Formats: sequence, structure tokens, C-alpha cells
Amino acid sequence: MKYTENDKRFNRYCVTTALPYANGPVHIGHLAGVYVPADIYVRYLRQMGEDVLFIGGSDEHGVPITIKARKEGVNPQQIVDRYHSIIKDSFEQFGISFDIYSRTSSEIHSKTASEFFRKLYENSKLVEKTTQQYYDPQEKVFLADRYIMGTCPHCGNEKAYGDQCEACGTSLSATDLINPKSTISGAEPVLKETKHWYLPLGDYEDFLKQWILEGHKEWKPNVYGQCKSWIEQGLQERAVTRDLDWGVQVPVEGAEGKVLYVWFDAPIGYISNTKELKPDDWEKWWKETDTKLVHFIGKDNIVFHCIIFPVMLKAEGSYILPENVPANEFLNLEGDKISTSRNWAVWLHEYLRDFPDKQDVLRYVLCANAPETKDNDFTWKDFQTHNNSELVAILGNFVNRTIVLTHKYFGGQVPNIGILNDSDRQMVEQMSQYPQKIGRSIEQYRFREALSEMMNLARLGNKYLTENEPWKTIKTDKERTATVLNLSLQICAALAVMMEPFLPFTAKKLYRMLNFAPVAWYESGRTDLLGEGHAVNPAQLLFELIDDKQIEQQTEKLQQTKKTNSIDSAETEPQKESIKYEQFAQMDIRVGTIVEAEKVAKTKKLLKLTVDTGIDKRTIVSGIAEYYKPEEITGRQVSVLVNLEPKNLKGIESRGMILMAENPDGTLSFVSPDKSLKNGSKIS
Ligand code: 2FM
Ligand code: ZN
Repeated sequence: MKYTENDKRFNRYCVTTALPYANGPVHIGHLAGVYVPADIYVRYLRQMGEDVLFIGGSDEHGVPITIKARKEGVNPQQIVDRYHSIIKDSFEQFGISFDIYSRTSSEIHSKTASEFFRKLYENSKLVEKTTQQYYDPQEKVFLADRYIMGTCPHCGNEKAYGDQCEACGTSLSATDLINPKSTISGAEPVLKETKHWYLPLGDYEDFLKQWILEGHKEWKPNVYGQCKSWIEQGLQERAVTRDLDWGVQVPVEGAEGKVLYVWFDAPIGYISNTKELKPDDWEKWWKETDTKLVHFIGKDNIVFHCIIFPVMLKAEGSYILPENVPANEFLNLEGDKISTSRNWAVWLHEYLRDFPDKQDVLRYVLCANAPETKDNDFTWKDFQTHNNSELVAILGNFVNRTIVLTHKYFGGQVPNIGILNDSDRQMVEQMSQYPQKIGRSIEQYRFREALSEMMNLARLGNKYLTENEPWKTIKTDKERTATVLNLSLQICAALAVMMEPFLPFTAKKLYRMLNFAPVAWYESGRTDLLGEGHAVNPAQLLFELIDDKQIEQQTEKLQQTKKTNSIDSAETEPQKESIKYEQFAQMDIRVGTIVEAEKVAKTKKLLKLTVDTGIDKRTIVSGIAEYYKPEEITGRQVSVLVNLEPKNLKGIESRGMILMAENPDGTLSFVSPDKSLKNGSKIS
């Protein structure tokens, strides 16, 4: 049973969720982006009677895990053991209903990933190449680009990473950096030869064009757009092995000390976890064309799930491809990017400590605010509003009023339905459309819309009660009161079924309150779910108000984190080595006035400034666009290093540098004289 045409050709569903790295607990961003939507989808499919497998697990390989282990002086297995169990627990507590939640350090995974690689290797699907890569001579490890820092050759930022300079936005190769340093030991890396195996993505361009650009136009615009741009830029071969001692060994002679790249082995984790759960018939979930494979992920994983993993599956030859990859954008927290290292997050285990038994409230808010089409913001104030004005005032209130009145007037028994009038019939007609309405939205991965329709059904119930005033009719017309309460109770039962994907804990409470066993989704719009005379239990509140004090506690906690972060980063910036005055005096710093400013096209961070330095009027390109608007800064006096070598930035010759002060939170501010000076005045 399916409402969407395209879904009708599938007999089973294999639904996967991105495997989170087991190097930290999970937070609301994970839940909103991936796990709540996937769980809604899967719960709904089960209620529709579909054959579904819901696969999850921890991603336990990769360099960050080895670095964390080294920092703590333990081995990587100890790190992943700790976080795997914390993460698994959090998911269980939030009702994420995996059929299996396993891990990539398992034996079955190692065997599966190893065999997969071996098959590609034996069928000549991989290219072997020896290249020079940076190596940390102190730690005796090859360094991924992200673990090398140095000076950006384009803008002079001393903290550019080996893959990108975050100050000017240029993407880099580690060998472009001036004065490179290993971020692990601080040592200067050396270039060393190493052999690796590469997946020649370029060979699959035609296949990808056909399969995604022609065949999957229905994918979400953010996903389709990213794929299109990757494919159109031209695909490079990708190394699928690494020099590392943590991961799945490369199963080839002469590959000692090498492991599969984490992004090669992690998606195979979906397959190994299916095997672990269904040792005898796992293949039908991965190889039969009437299986619908769906990957739920965040936007940073799109290329891996839409391009690299499908190419791996295609190259292997015996697997089906994902039918959809409904990736979400990111959730921010109180206006800032969620960050594990800055502790800027709402951790799930902490939420449950502060709001015990309120899993559904968070599930609700995260779904109502899900970053489905663009990045979205979670704020505690909004959390409170959703709870108090929607869950309590609409959904909880409707159910409570109905059950209280049933007990008050009919001793807790479902009263006779009687004869329906026009308004009853209209309401019944509307109610009957909800299973399909909500179902369609879910089948099309529009979970916010689905949730808001579910709330509309509760609104319909409230309106029906309010307009029919059973508390008044009871005085004059008991039969009419019976009809109204009977139908209201049917709405409660329908709501219990239709809220289950979104609010599984509350659905359970409501089933118990109604003394009612769940029915299939497509039955839920009926008006005979509760028979006449059926006894319902006394009313219990489904939701409770969250007061200002609770919200203030949470926002204060975040304020505290902000403070600690700025103190920390101020303290951790060590003083540089001493220099002689002569070295300082080599810099010619002047007061200048910005006379014109405009954005540099196709960049986020750069402004092109014309500055009167007293010596001349010159162009300086500055990475300040995120902090100053062009129109705000013309006429501003600033400090200018005028004898810096000219540099070409995005095709513009920049002559000099505007001095900026950097706040510990990364925001930039001009260093300006405190009274107006003549342009060209020296700063020393
Ligand atoms: O981005 C991440 O957190 C990765 N650990 C996701 C892996 S998804 C899959 F390939 F396993
Ligand atoms: Zn730069």
C-alpha cells in the first residue's frame, strides 16, 4: 500500500542513516538532519504494512578518532567503545527505531569491506599510483591535508589548512602552503613517496549523468544541484586507501600499514550491518531491484552518497543503487553553527537530564524546524513556543477535553454515534483525507509539511468541539452530545495512529489512554475505530507547559559556553617569538581613509577597497565582507600596512593590508585612530 505512484513498484525498503563518527556524543543537529526524518519515514512505512529494514551504526574509523586517542593516551578502540555506547543509548532513548545499530569496528564489517575492495581490485576497477605526500617525521604518520597548517600563498593568513584557506576561501593543496606545519606535532612535514589505490570517478561521468541528472530529477533541489555541480566540474580520481594503522587493512600484498579510506569503508557499513542482522537473506535488501534503497544524510555527505558510493556499487556490479538520498541542510543553534569542539550544541544525553521524558517535544520541534530546504536555527525560545502553543494548547488540549468530557458525561464509555448533521459529515469527510495527505508528504520526504498536517487534524478536532459545545448541549440534548463526543474520540484515535511516526512516546500514551490497539495507517481516517460502549481510561496530560525559568537556564548555559570559549581561545594563543625593533620598523604602517568599497564577485569574504594612504590612492583587497558592509565603511580611517608586497587576489592586484583586530570568537574589527588624523600619518 502506497500513495505515491513511483513507490508502487517496490516490495521492500532498505533505509540507512549516516553512520555518525564515534568520537563524540550526538546532538540536536544530528537528530534534526538525519535521524528524526529517517525514523518518521520508517515508522510510517511499517504502519503502512511495508517490509522495511532500518539500518544504523557508528563510523569508527578515520584520522580524527586516532588523534583523539593519541591526545587522551588511549587506543582508538577505547575511544570508539566509549562513544558507540553513548550514541547508541541516545538513539534508543529518542525512539530512533533501528532494526540494527552496529559498528564498523566489527569483524563482519572488516570482512565485508575487505571483500568489496578485493573484488574491485581483482576486476581492475582501481588504479594503483605512487605519489609524494606529506609525512610527519616526528609522529611517523602521513598527514591528511586537513592536518597541515601554514601560510596561505594568496592572502598571507598564517592559519590556512592544507585543503583550504578559511580567510580568503581559496581551496589549496597542502604543498601550496608556505611554512607548513603538522597540526599533530607541530613538526615540519616532509614529502615522502607512497603507493595508493584510486577510484577513477571520471570513468563514470556518463553513467552518473544518465542515472542522476536524467534519471533522478525528482531528488531534492539541494541534492540534485550539488550532484550536478560536481559532475559538471569534472570528476577526479579519488584515493580509497590511506597510510594509517587504524581501519580495515588493505587486502593486497605489499599494502602493509595501509587501510581503506574511511569514506570507502563507512558506507559499506550499511551492507555489513544488514548482513549482521539478516545473515541468510541480506542480499535481497541490496541486490533485488524491487527493493527501494534510501540514504538519509546531512548535506556534507552528499558527494559520498550520491557519487562515490554509487560508483563503488556500480563498479562492484551486483548491487542496486539508491533510489533517493533526501539530504538535509544544517541546523544552527541560537544563530551559530553547531560545533563539537566549541561545545556549541545541545547534547542529547544532557537534554534528557534537563527535560526527562520529553523526547517527543524535542522530536516535534526538530521536525517542525527541520532544515529541509535551507539551514535553520534552533532557539530555546522557539522550543518553548512550539511546546506551549502547539503541543499543549492544540494537541494535548483537544485530547484532554475529549476524554475528560467522555468521563464526565458518559462514564468513560464511547457514546453512541447517532445521526450525523451536515457539519459532522463535513468534518468526517475532512478527517478521512488525512492519512493520504500526511502519507503523501512523508513518502515525498516532506516531513515538516506532514507534521503540520497532523497538527491540522488536531486543530480540526478542537474546532469541532468548540463549535459544537458538548458542555452546553448536554443540558438539553444528550444524543447530540453523544455524537459529538463519539466523533471527537474517533479523531483522538486517528491522531494516535497518525502522530506515531513523529511522536512515538506520546502515541503510546494515547493508545493506552484510549485503551486502543494500533491499526494500519490507511485505516486511521475511519470513524469506527472505537466501538460504542468501549471504555477509555481517565485523562492524563500528554504535554506540560515549559516555563520561562527552564528556558533561561538553557540560554544561560549557552552564554556560559560562549564565555568559556572566548577565554579559552584568548589563553591558547601563545605569544610569538621576540623580535628586534628593527624587524618591526621594517613595516610601514599608515593611517588611511577608505574612499570606496565594493564586494568582490563570487566571494563571500572579500571586499575591494580604494584607500587614500596619504601617499597615493590604491586598491586593497580585504577579507572583511562578513563583518562590514561596503556602504558602512567609506570614509572610515583605518591602519594600513603600505609596504606589503602586492598580491593578486581573485584577479585584482592588492597593494597593502588593512590591519584588523580579531576577537576570540573570530569576528574582525578595524584598528582605527581615536581622532581624525591626516592620511599618511605614520603608525609606530
Ligand atoms: O559525516 C559523518 O559523520 C560520517 N561519519 C558519515 C558516514 S556515512 C556512511 F557512509 F557511513
Ligand atoms: Zn588565504
